[in-house]
Amino acid sequence: MKIDIVSVFPEYFEVLNLSLMGKAQSKGLLEITAHNLRDWTHDVHHSVDDTPVGGGAGMVMKPEVWAECLDELLGLPTPNEDDSPDELVFPTSESATSTTEEALDFSEIHDDAIFDDDIEDTENAGEIADIVDGNENKSEAAKATSLPTDESESSSATPVLIFPNPSAPLFTQRDATELSHAEHLLFGCGRYEGYDSRIPDYYRAQGVDVREYSIGDYVLNGGEVAVSVMLEAITRLMPGFMGNPDSIVEESYTGEGALLEHRQYTKPAVWRGLKVPEVLLSGDHGKVDRFRRDEALTRTNEIRPDLIEALDCKALDKADRKT
Ligand code: ADE
Repeated sequence: MKIDIVSVFPEYFEVLNLSLMGKAQSKGLLEITAHNLRDWTHDVHHSVDDTPVGGGAGMVMKPEVWAECLDELLGLPTPNEDDSPDELVFPTSESATSTTEEALDFSEIHDDAIFDDDIEDTENAGEIADIVDGNENKSEAAKATSLPTDESESSSATPVLIFPNPSAPLFTQRDATELSHAEHLLFGCGRYEGYDSRIPDYYRAQGVDVREYSIGDYVLNGGEVAVSVMLEAITRLMPGFMGNPDSIVEESYTGEGALLEHRQYTKPAVWRGLKVPEVLLSGDHGKVDRFRRDEALTRTNEIRPDLIEALDCKALDKADRKT
């Protein structure tokens, strides 16, 4: 898997040369390159940010610098910035609305545009349809994109473009599993108050598979740590990454009936007066499996009831239901 990371602190990613990630690179399983976003600046200060339009605290990362960098790394042409961008109009709150009332209307239209077929009837539908079409009938860039399927193994796949963002959907084990099959990932690390939202909009409209993910309900200083977290979750699922692939199968958050894992013990059987549960010493694999499964269900119910609610009933056996 090829991985490109863009950051104003590419040194952050030197740790990826250590441990299992380092080994995977030596084995040729992973090829990781961290780029400095400032290499795509043209001014003496190498500036990458500007004040937020509409006011507010902090700075926002400028689209122009990101675009030059991403065009190059995605292998897309850089349009002449002087050309009128008439054909690319995005449903930003500025372009689509002038009052709060209209803004609410617009959000309904936008939802319809994504989920309904009959968007032609609605105001703004033309603009939105272009964007939705842009995503569905993917452009040349997208035809080679993202996650390889059996039919489309291509070594020159356009990367999946991923931006960590505290205001995005949560990154889960399901996303990690899906992305572990990609040939090429390109991560863009935001800093300050984040990046101009038109950056992901633009690349989506070019047919690139763009993802934005939060790694949790807290705010970090930038995307670097979030990218490290996602990278580790993704790459350890790649075939050949783990010495013992069985260790992945039984983990928490894995599979349809995702549960927290049972508690773990090693020898000695008694340590400082604390005993390993008797059943684990019995040698009866059936009983051990049942004990661990019950513990997983009970712990998940206590610690993460949301995971129990999300469980597919088909993932439960008769004995589970009693637990
Ligand atoms: N950038 C800042 N905080 C973040 C978070 N929680 N997840 C992803 N990216 C972030």
